[in-house]
Amino acid sequence: MKFTIIELDKTHLNECVDFDQKTINGLWSKSQWERELTDTKRICLGMMELETKNLLGLCSAWLLIDELYITFIAVHPIHKRKGLGRFLLSDLLKRSKSLQINHIHLEVKNNNEPAKAFYKSMGFKTLGNRTNFYKDGSDALLLKKTLTNHKINN
Ligand SMILES: CC(C)(COP(=O)(O)OP(=O)(O)OC[C@H]1O[C@@H](n2cnc3c(N)ncnc32)[C@H](O)[C@@H]1OP(=O)(O)O)[C@@H](O)C(=O)NCCC(=O)NCCS
Repeated sequence: MKFTIIELDKTHLNECVDFDQKTINGLWSKSQWERELTDTKRICLGMMELETKNLLGLCSAWLLIDELYITFIAVHPIHKRKGLGRFLLSDLLKRSKSLQINHIHLEVKNNNEPAKAFYKSMGFKTLGNRTNFYKDGSDALLLKKTLTNHKINN
């Protein structure tokens, strides 16, 4: 399967909303995705299959001076555990390097074992947790990765 990673824009709005529904049960509304795709302080990357132009993976992050805050990452359910998530996140880390980012933060549900294993494999460390953080009452783990001297340690 051949794919490319591109920066998404407003023309990809419907695809992002559909992909979000398919993968995380609709984390954001259409207007939230529109903000994600148009705000210059946010990066939204799509992994596209070259032949079909379908989205295989999607990630989004906010830029806060020298920090990046990952708000969304998902891989199409039928393509999980094939290394696509690692490829997509590595691409975001490379872009962070050229943007002089020093720290990357994110929150993950404490009961999301695949995602926790994924971030651990990518070199993220646990900073702490937030009790009752999500609507369903589950806790959030706060994870961080430092890009020392802008080298990517994964
Ligand atoms: C988390 C997610 C993006 C990982 O993407 P992926 O393409 O399946 O992950 P990869 O195949 O690149 O896996 C890389 C490494 O992460 C770890 N990993 C990923 N999925 C795992 C699982 N289900 N169980 C255990 N380890 C896992 C492994 O170490 C894996 O390396 P390996 O396959 O060589 O052992 C994907 O599971 C997903 O879309 N989940 C639903 C959305 C979600 O929960 N997003 C995170 C919200 S914070």
